Amino acid sequence: MAIPPKNALYFLLLVSSFILGAMADLALSCPSRCEVELQWTLYARQIGGGANANQEEMVHSVHPTTGFGTIVVNNWDVLDAPLPNAAIVARARGTHTKAGPAAGDWFTSLSIVFEGARFNGSTFQVMGITNTDGLWAIVGGTKELSRADGTIKHTLLRATALENYRQLDIRAFYTPPAVNANGIAAQ
Ligand SMILES: *[C@@H]1O[C@H](CO)[C@@H](O)[C@H](O)[C@H]1NC(C)=O
Repeated sequence: MAIPPKNALYFLLLVSSFILGAMADLALSCPSRCEVELQWTLYARQIGGGANANQEEMVHSVHPTTGFGTIVVNNWDVLDAPLPNAAIVARARGTHTKAGPAAGDWFTSLSIVFEGARFNGSTFQVMGITNTDGLWAIVGGTKELSRADGTIKHTLLRATALENYRQLDIRAFYTPPAVNANGIAAQ
């Protein structure tokens, strides 16, 4: 059945006001679910050997020159300062795999599991190449850090034969499960 032109216009107006109404509802619902920005500098401590080693080589390479194919499992401490007695804020749990011929070609896949007062039990899911310095991508998160995305700039600060400290400059956006009108997470 053809709609007469005048009615068609009315029909269009009706449909568009319905869509605009739905958009307004979406905008109003934002205070219960809003994105939050996080900038936080932490420090990863990687201990390659000795009694306190926090990583272990699980798959050995058959390429002695490049180490290509080596897989190391890691449980690095993530600290609030680059010092042995600093507070542990999280653990960086995952693997790093020698995925290229150069010294810094380590593909790294981590869950950063928070355990301090801030973000306790929440995680960042992180991927990237671990060279001396570089960037990892934050590709997701859980609990308080749900829907996280961003980057972690990592910079080698200090290295000895057995261990090193990496500065982690975290810049992320995440969406806590519920926030109040001021963007503060509801408890
Ligand atoms: C973190 O959560 C665990 C498990 O729920 C709890 O046992 C621990 O006390 C919490 N730590 C802090 C610092 O809140």
